[in-house]
Amino acid sequence: MTAGIASVGSYIPARRVSNEELSKTVDTSDEWIRTHTGIGNRHIASDKETCSYMATEAAKEVLEKAGMSKDDVDIIIVATITPDYRDFPATANLVQRNLGIGNIGSFDVKAACTGFVYGLELGRGLILAGTAKNILVIGVEKLSAITNWNDRGTAVLFGDGAGAVVLTPRVKGEGIVDSVLRTDGTGYDALNMPIGGTATPFIPGETPEEDLYIYMDGQRVYNFAVKVNVEIVMELMKRNGLTADDVDYIVPHQANYRIILAASRRAKIPMEKYYLNMEEFANTSSASIPLALAEMDRKGLLKKGMKILTVGFGGGLTYGGNYIVW
Ligand code: ACO
Repeated sequence: MTAGIASVGSYIPARRVSNEELSKTVDTSDEWIRTHTGIGNRHIASDKETCSYMATEAAKEVLEKAGMSKDDVDIIIVATITPDYRDFPATANLVQRNLGIGNIGSFDVKAACTGFVYGLELGRGLILAGTAKNILVIGVEKLSAITNWNDRGTAVLFGDGAGAVVLTPRVKGEGIVDSVLRTDGTGYDALNMPIGGTATPFIPGETPEEDLYIYMDGQRVYNFAVKVNVEIVMELMKRNGLTADDVDYIVPHQANYRIILAASRRAKIPMEKYYLNMEEFANTSSASIPLALAEMDRKGLLKKGMKILTVGFGGGLTYGGNYIVW
């Protein structure tokens, strides 16, 4: 037995900010953003649209699409680096409260842009262990809340949203067949939130304001992202006896078009195999892979038996992927 995705859902904030609109407040241009990242728009959450709110709405959609009731859920896993509350409680607990489900477990996964990949494998493990039957796995981010809107190097990259799946038991050979989870903690300082934890607390009057937002060494992250993208795809294909021709879609973390283009060239896998939607949603970290899956589902692209690879990479530095037979 293994676990598979019974349905996919999403929640996208209504406010859509184009590159042109952003260029009115940030020193940038539509042309620069498109040519350097492939991003054209991003959706930005309102004050009311907290992470737990967006995650709950995505969860409601996914349960309805699966024909399941909230009471069928045994565990909620939320992947996020922008939780409603910085340290605790977990955002997953607030989703449990919002949905009004009793007698279940819930927790957050913090693996940045690889969070959803980790969440899927954790969910699969809990189903395989017999701990749970049906699991909500949600990737959600409100990156607009931790973005420095005065830093054009990062302000153009990020967006908000939520994507969710419900995992249910499947027979071996279907569903999530294999996963690779990796970390390179030596790169913890390439992409992070420098201040606010117990190692480097916020000191009023001393902490520079820019340290309260996402810090990124763009070139270092770019090099890492291309390298591990290729590594993960190759490892999943090798371990499962697949060639690029066997794979229907690769659904990567939607960070940047150029990262995916470079990875596709290096791996010698045609770009058509990669499903991309950063043009509309920008980089939504933990939410980007399930948002892409939800969009593919809406377009009718996902068919039973299709072979799909996910590949995540991001802060931590974390990386990994899943091999899914749909
Ligand atoms: N608008 C206009 N000009 C800009 C902007 C902007 N938004 N940002 C930077 N520039 C300028 C720089 O100031 C620099 O100008 P200069 O040559 O006069 O000094 C020039 O553009 C080139 O800057 P670089 O930082 O070298 O630009 P680069 O081509 O490396 O692109 C980018 C930057 C897009 C961030 C790239 O490094 C990248 O893709 N990094 C990967 C990081 C990423 O995608 N992170 C997302 C989060 S992590 C994740 O999800 C994996």
